[in-house]
Amino acid sequence: MERLGLAKYGDVFADNDIGTDILADLTEEHLKELGVSIGDRLRLLKAIRNDLGSSPEADAPASTSPVEATQPAAQASDNVERRPLTVMFCDLADSTALSTRLDPEDLQDIIRAYQETCAEHIQEYGGYIAKYMGDGILVYFGYPKSLERNAERAVRSALAIVEAMAGLNQTIGRDQDIEIAVRIGIATGTGTVMVGEVIGEGMAQERTVVGEAPNMAARLQGLAGRNGIVIGPLTKDLTGDGFECKDTGSQELKGIAGLVQTWEVLGLRDDGALEADGDELGGNVAVPELVGRDEETGLLRRAWQSVKEEGRGQVVTINGEPGIGKSVLVDGLRAVVFAEGLPQLILRCSPYHINSALHPVIEHLRRLARWQTEDSAGARFEKLEAMLEAYEQPLDEAVPLLADLLSVAVPEGRYQPLDLTPKQQKQRTQDVIVAMVLEAAERQPTLQLWEDLHWADPSTLEFIGLLIDQAPTAALLIVATARPDFVAPWQARSHITPLTLNRLEIQHAAALVARLADMKALPAEVVDHIVTKADGVPLYVEELTKTILASDILRDAGDHYKLTGPLSSLSIPDTLQESLMARLDRLPQVRELAQLGSVLGREFAYEMISGLSTADESDLQDGLGQLVDAELLYQRGRPPRARY
Ligand SMILES: Nc1ncnc2c1ncn2[C@@H]1O[C@H](COP(=O)(O)OP(=O)(O)OP(=O)(O)O)[C@@H](O)[C@H]1O
Ligand SMILES: [Mg+2]
Repeated sequence: MERLGLAKYGDVFADNDIGTDILADLTEEHLKELGVSIGDRLRLLKAIRNDLGSSPEADAPASTSPVEATQPAAQASDNVERRPLTVMFCDLADSTALSTRLDPEDLQDIIRAYQETCAEHIQEYGGYIAKYMGDGILVYFGYPKSLERNAERAVRSALAIVEAMAGLNQTIGRDQDIEIAVRIGIATGTGTVMVGEVIGEGMAQERTVVGEAPNMAARLQGLAGRNGIVIGPLTKDLTGDGFECKDTGSQELKGIAGLVQTWEVLGLRDDGALEADGDELGGNVAVPELVGRDEETGLLRRAWQSVKEEGRGQVVTINGEPGIGKSVLVDGLRAVVFAEGLPQLILRCSPYHINSALHPVIEHLRRLARWQTEDSAGARFEKLEAMLEAYEQPLDEAVPLLADLLSVAVPEGRYQPLDLTPKQQKQRTQDVIVAMVLEAAERQPTLQLWEDLHWADPSTLEFIGLLIDQAPTAALLIVATARPDFVAPWQARSHITPLTLNRLEIQHAAALVARLADMKALPAEVVDHIVTKADGVPLYVEELTKTILASDILRDAGDHYKLTGPLSSLSIPDTLQESLMARLDRLPQVRELAQLGSVLGREFAYEMISGLSTADESDLQDGLGQLVDAELLYQRGRPPRARY
């Protein structure tokens, strides 16, 4: 403070117990409250921001590079980020044994083939290969680009790699008479991981991750058996119930304090199989207890009622940001339809198959035909044919078309091959499936749910467009969910009702907190804290409440909770950090601006950020505009008078 000529505030800071430990948490509002003038507020915040970049931790990666050491502090801070990160380490199993059995050249070939195979499946799931280390590969998920569900991507990639080993063994493995296998360890950085970019030339450029995750991933890899995948506790938490896992107990890992709970991943939990449990394709879902969605729930039920009574199809599109409650809202309707014993068809678009034509439709047809993993090609064909026999579509066309779509061979001599151009083939296939859906809906009112259209491939969208056009001819209710970045390619029609889910009102958010705390009273300031931070997004309300309930700043005092520590000691749950990072990474040019804004506090004035930012007016306003569009900021008024 002396250095900045701000020594006069020393006492004020001391009186308010503000030490260097929490300097970084000071916001514009805090300083205002302390009576610091506008100019001094700017000076202080600027100094705090620059000092953050040259804190001892931030210096750690920088000092490994002589280039970096000469950079000014502000520049160093550009290269240092804190973000949750999932690290995967995969290693060729028993490579020492292989090296004694094979010629060096042959071994090189094997290693190259193995590395190429791994790289392919790492890229498939958005991983970043940080380093090849001997025959080990160090991979980041969540850096340099954070996509959503980084932990899940890592595990999926690992499963794909293990599966691909079988292919290698059929070719290069058989030639050399060896059995190639991998061992994989996956760990997610607890809280935050620091990434420093060490500036280098071209290929020599390297990025370093500081923190526990890389070491833990390497140690977990050491615990894995041949073709085994071992994950740590945070990765397990983040992936939820998505994978079949075996508890492999708490382990002592070198270089990591305390015992670490580990899990072996056995495979993907099969969503389709679960759904098929209920008699029809969409199984039973518990009726969700929603807060503040009476109107939306009513609208969906009325649409369903009307479809059943009038026999005329309708479409409801539900749009809203991640975690706003699109899927649970639909769950409510699914429960009603299930209770009535009527069919519901669920088609999900997936972020892993954005470029795979008609993926949700193909998955759906496989489920309709009740294909099992162990079915032979012949058995699959028989099942497909049997499924189609239940429809009135001419089999001599429907069977070859769908067999082709589902990539199953038609047994010799059973059907005449269709002589069609690719374009005709595509159109006829779409027509057949649309006709099947409508035929079924004519027999019985049907709910068809399309989840997450923002991930739909172009052919799927085209297909949905056809269905929507023809929906009024049968008792079909189409409900589709999508995030705001999705722009519907079809035109507004009178039988389409668009529904936008808004953020929860404060009273509803508070009611949700109370429900999550099992109605046991929480201190008012805790509820306030959650409601303010979550800003009306139910997912955030849930995650924050769970974090607080599990933390040690609350004590269960029978019929209520008592606060025993400072709320400021809580950090943002990892699940939320990941989704925030993903949203920011989609806007790389303005990420720094968002970070700057966050230093200023929950609310800041345009003049504050323009005083701190190095960007010129028009870039700054453009950047703020992008953050407003992405709903990362809200704006009141217009610059230069705006507040955010
Ligand atoms: N109105 C509500 N009342 C109670 N809980 C809610 C409400 N809305 C959402 N939730 C809860 O918030 C979480 C997120 O909801 P949901 O998964 O439906 O979001 P979404 O909009 O489908 O997000 P995404 O775009 O990521 O699929 C869920 O756990 C859900 O139970
Ligand atoms: Mg959803």
